[in-house]
Amino acid sequence: MLKNHDYNYQFNIDKFYKNYLKGPKIFNNRNALDPSYIPEILPHRDVQIKDIAEKTACALLGDAPPSFLCYGQTGTGKTATIRYVSQKLAQQNSEIKPWWIYINCNVVSTPYRILAHIYNTISREEKIPPTGLPKDIIFKKLLGLLDSKVKDSICFLVLDEIDILVDKKGGNEILYDLTRLNENLDNCKSSLIGISNKLKFRNSLDPRILSSLGEEHIVFHSYDASELRDILNERARIAFHEHVLKEDLIPLCAAVAAKEHGDARKALQLLRKAGELAERAQSKIVTSEYVEKAQEEIERDYIMEFIKGLPLQAQLILTSIYLISKFNPDHIIISGDIYDVHSEIRGLIPGIRQLTKRRISDYINELALAGIITADVKSMGHYGRTKIIKFDIGIDIIEKVLCEIDKIQGILNHKPILLQTDKVKLKNNIFKKLI
Ligand SMILES: Nc1ncnc2c1ncn2[C@@H]1O[C@H](COP(=O)(O)OP(=O)(O)OP(=O)(O)O)[C@@H](O)[C@H]1O
Ligand SMILES: [Mg+2]
Repeated sequence: MLKNHDYNYQFNIDKFYKNYLKGPKIFNNRNALDPSYIPEILPHRDVQIKDIAEKTACALLGDAPPSFLCYGQTGTGKTATIRYVSQKLAQQNSEIKPWWIYINCNVVSTPYRILAHIYNTISREEKIPPTGLPKDIIFKKLLGLLDSKVKDSICFLVLDEIDILVDKKGGNEILYDLTRLNENLDNCKSSLIGISNKLKFRNSLDPRILSSLGEEHIVFHSYDASELRDILNERARIAFHEHVLKEDLIPLCAAVAAKEHGDARKALQLLRKAGELAERAQSKIVTSEYVEKAQEEIERDYIMEFIKGLPLQAQLILTSIYLISKFNPDHIIISGDIYDVHSEIRGLIPGIRQLTKRRISDYINELALAGIITADVKSMGHYGRTKIIKFDIGIDIIEKVLCEIDKIQGILNHKPILLQTDKVKLKNNIFKKLI
């Protein structure tokens, strides 16, 4: 690793670029492996494409298509298929050109913002402010705009990750209103398409919405290894130069992703990362060795993102384990140690509450469930039972991510009192050891 004070070594950036341009070429079109790339062919989605095409075809004649839902696990091509069909529909030689308003409810996440987004997209101006107007006023304005601007055409409203909206306050209400738009429109017609990877979310839908949205649904099954191979082969043909992929590479990526419930996104991500690692190493071909490395990197990125997204208290539990392991790697960590260290370090950060032993135990279980630590229960005879806690991933990864958390980076050199040999803790008071 290069250190800033290592003045004897100088990275020659010009030479680096020269070598890079002269070096072997792996990618022909790396964009083809981007998550947003819409391929010309979607293998193993014929049934769903046909179903959606049949449901939406009447839009070309100006009739209102039914509203429907698309279900399936993550990475099964729901978003890609809807986008693909919408493009194809737009390319048809018809006088009527349907409108498609695509909303990801994870990004545009409140009922108000969804209405504002629909309005502003159709009007092509930011006419509705981000907050402030009563909902019924926006609704009236939206109906007027649909009739005047979309006129006799069809407006498809695609609500991707619709389950997030349903869980929000007022979510069911706005969905109900959107499924009934046609009753209040004079010229234009609308159709709602909901997409979700939460298979059970229909149970949380208002029965009135279910009747107009949930009756028709399209299921996206998870891909098996051989289907993933076809998807990857198609994409690799565009993305990579000829003969750069070793023949076992695509089957390997497909097999790895098939184990993770057949997620095509994972498979493509793995292939892309393996290609990038080979490119960085100036290799002429991408071998399975790069897939293994890519897998490790992806897993590490995933764990780091997961830890960054945890509540601060859970991050502090992790910090407590980290501090004990850092200052004494041989110390056997039990739940009580974590309670002690957490009490110490939470005092170093303003506004952080003391946690009960019960709550700390819950956090330990959550971290164990996520595969970050192991917490084996051990009997201590008369003293009851405790958990023996260890990291299940490298401490270097934990250190790297904790350093990136603002509130925590300042306490990473705090040596826990239980490891300070000259101090002893008695009934929550710290005394200097006399012997
Ligand atoms: N049959 C397929 N052919 C080609 N590429 C596919 C196919 N299915 C999925 N993909 C690709 O896999 C990636 C993930 O697909 P997509 O985003 O459509 O998944 P999704 O079902 O919407 O997942 P999520 O529920 O997480 O949103 C995309 O890059 C997409 O292009
Ligand atoms: Mg999606």
